[in-house]
Amino acid sequence: MDDQFWDTPIAAAARRAAQVKTPNSLTLPRPETPRKITVANQKGGVGKTTSSVNLAAGLSLHGLKVLVIDLDPQGNASTALGAEHHSGVLSSYEVIIGACTPAEALQKSPFNDNLYCIPATIDLAGAEIEMVSMVRREYRLADAISADFIAEHGFDYVIVDCPPSLGLLTINAMTAVTEVMIPIQAEYYALEGVGQLLNNITMIRQHLNPALHISAILLTMYDARTKLAEQVASEVREHFGEVVLTNMIPRSVKVSEAPGYGQTVLEYDPGSRGAMAYLDAAKELANRGDYPAHSDSPIGQAPTANPAGEEA
Ligand SMILES: Nc1ncnc2c1ncn2[C@@H]1O[C@H](COP(=O)(O)OP(=O)(O)OP(=O)(O)O)[C@@H](O)[C@H]1O
Ligand SMILES: [Mg+2]
Repeated sequence: MDDQFWDTPIAAAARRAAQVKTPNSLTLPRPETPRKITVANQKGGVGKTTSSVNLAAGLSLHGLKVLVIDLDPQGNASTALGAEHHSGVLSSYEVIIGACTPAEALQKSPFNDNLYCIPATIDLAGAEIEMVSMVRREYRLADAISADFIAEHGFDYVIVDCPPSLGLLTINAMTAVTEVMIPIQAEYYALEGVGQLLNNITMIRQHLNPALHISAILLTMYDARTKLAEQVASEVREHFGEVVLTNMIPRSVKVSEAPGYGQTVLEYDPGSRGAMAYLDAAKELANRGDYPAHSDSPIGQAPTANPAGEEA
């Protein structure tokens, strides 16, 4: 459908602006079955939360119904989505320990009618230890966020924001989904710890959730002015191949300012480069669909067979 004219940068910017101004018309493919994605990297501050909330906001603007589960006691995703999350508010903590249903902890984001959040409160900080003695401790979230719950609410995407660790909370996130998205900061030591993350995902595939695989890698905080960012980006692409999203997120002050206003950058400054980059990345993620793993490696690859199932 995209001919040359519509591929010009100005035309693309006009399309994005129109999407922000007339939100919620369905302009992206609805997945056949709901996609469940955990955003993980045990390295801190690489853009997990920023990517979770802004990709979710981008998908919701395109008419898809999205749930973000905040599984980090810091509650940063809840803040950015404008969700209430002081101690005592029903949250992912109560869901995980079985003290409430996910429906009871659900909040609609003021940003968009299609965007929902199960917030995290500081109460979640004790959950790692509390869960140790619980039955099915690795599956507390998976058991709670059932297919029935997702279908009942009509969610197209469930996105789980993880804490920067590889403890029981992150394991719970990875048994509750099939896809992992890894944000990688285009900086020194970008790949530090990623090897360990891959080992862990492989172990979870072997022992807890065979369906788990890495379906996307997103380069974040990309500074186009530096040679280093370019080098890191090409190293990551060389290492992981096509699973790396073509769209990268630039380093942008607007992106970092938005959470201070309890907003995603799509709400705070929809015309900014950061907002546009997240809209484009959300579009890419939805249009290309899942990248399943084809071999022993947990790293996804482009589907080879006719993915849209179109008749020849
Ligand atoms: N594209 C960007 N441009 C500028 N700043 C950014 C960008 N992405 C994220 N940041 C800022 O970098 C910091 C870390 O981002 P974020 O909180 O998303 O990382 P994280 O991986 O979730 O961190 P944590 O490991 O603590 O959960 C935040 O202050 C955020 O506002
Ligand atoms: Mg975070």
